[in-house]
Amino acid sequence: MTQSNPQQRLRVGAHFIDLAEYPSEAIADLVRLAQHLEQKPEPRALAGKILGLLFLNPSLRTLASMQAAMFRLGGQAFVITPGQGSWGLESRPHVRMDGAAAEHIREGLPVLAGYCDALGIRAFAHGEDLHADVSDAAFLAMAKLIPAQPVINLESAINHPCQALADWKTLEDLQVPRHSKFVLSWVPHPKPLPLAVPAAVLTMAAQRGHEVVIARPEGFALPEPIMAKARQLAERAGGSVRECADPMTAYADAHIIYAKEWGTTSAYGDAEHYRECVATLSHWQITEQSFSHSLPPARLLHCLPVRRNVAVDDRVLDGPRSSVIAQAHNRLWAQMAVLHRVLGQRFT
Ligand code: CP
Repeated sequence: MTQSNPQQRLRVGAHFIDLAEYPSEAIADLVRLAQHLEQKPEPRALAGKILGLLFLNPSLRTLASMQAAMFRLGGQAFVITPGQGSWGLESRPHVRMDGAAAEHIREGLPVLAGYCDALGIRAFAHGEDLHADVSDAAFLAMAKLIPAQPVINLESAINHPCQALADWKTLEDLQVPRHSKFVLSWVPHPKPLPLAVPAAVLTMAAQRGHEVVIARPEGFALPEPIMAKARQLAERAGGSVRECADPMTAYADAHIIYAKEWGTTSAYGDAEHYRECVATLSHWQITEQSFSHSLPPARLLHCLPVRRNVAVDDRVLDGPRSSVIAQAHNRLWAQMAVLHRVLGQRFT
């Protein structure tokens, strides 16, 4: 197995907050470790290690796969979901805590960190202040409260590196060529969803050197700092990034259509405006027709959960184009690789 420069690789004790902190060779190396662990698990690699998991928002895949990853490597995990068996946690700075939350993250996070060897945190965007969410300030402030242990980002306001790493592995498993056309397509949802997954997926595809096309309606452009970061990464990897407001034009010759829902950025946080927009955009649902001009065998990816027959038609999800289950399973192997690196002592 080829090893990349140790300075560039995810190291023991490092945070895992943004995949873009690592060069593409280091990510490819991490993906190879994930593939290796899938074939040859190491059930004692993290014996005696404990992973803490703090979920400030709901989850199915991340919640289950992080615990399974730790158990499969011989470690253990505990899960805290504030307000559901543990104290409600306040995260706003300098507030008078006379509401429902009994504890502030300034005490809660360092306390939890003292019980484990690494702490995974899920903390979604507040969805009100675009600048604040794009800067990921709230998550980075939380990570600063835990200086001694690795922090793993389980989805912050603007990032989801575990999803992006699993997606990279899925592309490798499917043998999708590095410079092929990758379409990140907005799809409808009843509610305005956060920008974390589209931002992380765009970054990942740019780092992998794809010809990336973001298909999205007017008013749904991804924020300029995210686009600028992606353009820079794409240039470095020999790829490109552009936008397209017509879905069928965007899908032509695509190897991958990655469907994802997100809220309007032109009127960020305005749920009423979002509902008015979405009412006119049902034709953005992915159907078999969406693949009519794609390159065979073009695949559908989606991070899940997905709203059937709103975001993606049943026939696509149940048909041979869909790789969404394999994609979700890859969360396990990808996160095992991350945990192996940040908590382990050796690499085989
Ligand atoms: N894709 C993803 O992160 O799924 P969950 O929200 O269920 O964890």
